[in-house]
Amino acid sequence: VSQELKGRPAQLQWSGRLTFILAATGSAVGLGNIWKFPYITGEHGGGAFVLVYLACILVIGLPLLMAEVMIGRRGKQNPANSMANLAREFKVSRHWRLLGWLGVVSGFLILSFYTVVAGWAISYIFISAQGVFDGASGEQVGAHFGQLLADPWALIFWGTLVLMITLLVVARGVKQGLEKAVNAMMPGLFVLLLVLVGYAMTTGYFMQGLNFLFNPDFSKLSGTSILVALGHAFFTLSIAGGGMMTYGSYLPQKVSIAKTAITIGILDTLVALLAGMVIFPLVFANGLEPGSGPGLLFVTLPIAFGQMPFGGLFGMIFFIMLSVAALTSAISLIEPAVAWMTERYRISRFKACLGSGLVMWVLSLGTVFSFNIWERHTLFGKTFFGVLDYLTSGWFLPLGGLFIAIFAGRVMSRKATEEELGKGLGYRLWYYTIRYVSPVAIVVMFLNAIGVIG
Ligand code: PHE
Ligand code: NA
Repeated sequence: VSQELKGRPAQLQWSGRLTFILAATGSAVGLGNIWKFPYITGEHGGGAFVLVYLACILVIGLPLLMAEVMIGRRGKQNPANSMANLAREFKVSRHWRLLGWLGVVSGFLILSFYTVVAGWAISYIFISAQGVFDGASGEQVGAHFGQLLADPWALIFWGTLVLMITLLVVARGVKQGLEKAVNAMMPGLFVLLLVLVGYAMTTGYFMQGLNFLFNPDFSKLSGTSILVALGHAFFTLSIAGGGMMTYGSYLPQKVSIAKTAITIGILDTLVALLAGMVIFPLVFANGLEPGSGPGLLFVTLPIAFGQMPFGGLFGMIFFIMLSVAALTSAISLIEPAVAWMTERYRISRFKACLGSGLVMWVLSLGTVFSFNIWERHTLFGKTFFGVLDYLTSGWFLPLGGLFIAIFAGRVMSRKATEEELGKGLGYRLWYYTIRYVSPVAIVVMFLNAIGVIG
């Protein structure tokens, strides 16, 4: 017992507040911000959807993020052990460790398709650099993306590359691997993003982009839009994916969870909005369709770059940025499994990476084949990839979020959560939100999803 309850040794703690912010922001900022946010905003008509999304982040996302980091820091181990430790501390059933497990498994499943999509991003760096998209027509760019998806070997190649880079970082440990990677990559990501915003300003359509993002037209909003916004709030803040809980376990006691969580939330939202400010002006400048779905980044945007001066160069910068963002998230998606294996079986990080990487790689083949040889093998009309995406974003993350809210707000003592988060008005706001607002909102979302209401 005492073994598990001991704090983490120094080499298993972040160097400080800033490092934790960079790592957790690295986890949050990813394909969700730059790929998913713009295309779902485009599909759901812009401004009104963005407003609902912002409300979801503020009212449900942030309190849950604080709760998850807090559980990790107090539990001090991988999500499964942390939950077991806290279940013991608050004298409730040991089955609460399943909540930790859910996080580890969700992270694992998400990563198995995340590496494949991140692989598209990396391959697009080279394609843009070669000038393939320069002046290309819509059909040509579309055909190119179609060819990539139809070629399992290419998808395996790029996805494996992403997985190997991720494992190389994670195998080196918290300080040598994770910290060094995020310290180098996160500032770079922000610089690239700002360069691209500057580029979007030269299109002459910047205001039109802003208008689309921020001028709400509520007639475009449907019940589904609200669900999509809420689901995306979970995904984008990495809630219940295991990563935030694990990163919280490396957080020194003196760091304020509330302040850091708010910073992470602001940065994540900023990146999503800035990505929109890059993409929509380019789309409008070329008379393209903002609601083109998942292909927005891989077909619509390259068409836009291809029509513009220096488009090849800025396209390359764009896909470098996307790849960096995806890598720092991928790290946080496998870290919970690696932490669990090293702490459960006392094996080295290297072996844990090798083991989990292998399982992950095999699983990722399912996503690869969803786009070609298994394209027609569907379950409820969804491919293997579609099922994974739907299960994780639509069910596992919100379910994990629901139980995190219940555990933090109702199982943990008020004294304990005050110890972790500090007293005051901010605490009371958090406390009532996590007890009442968050669980109710998530349950309403579930009832709607299974068709009971709405
Ligand atoms: N937040 C990441 C993104 O927006 C995805 C993610 C989900 C990462 C869950 C970790 C855990 O791309
Ligand atoms: Na995100």
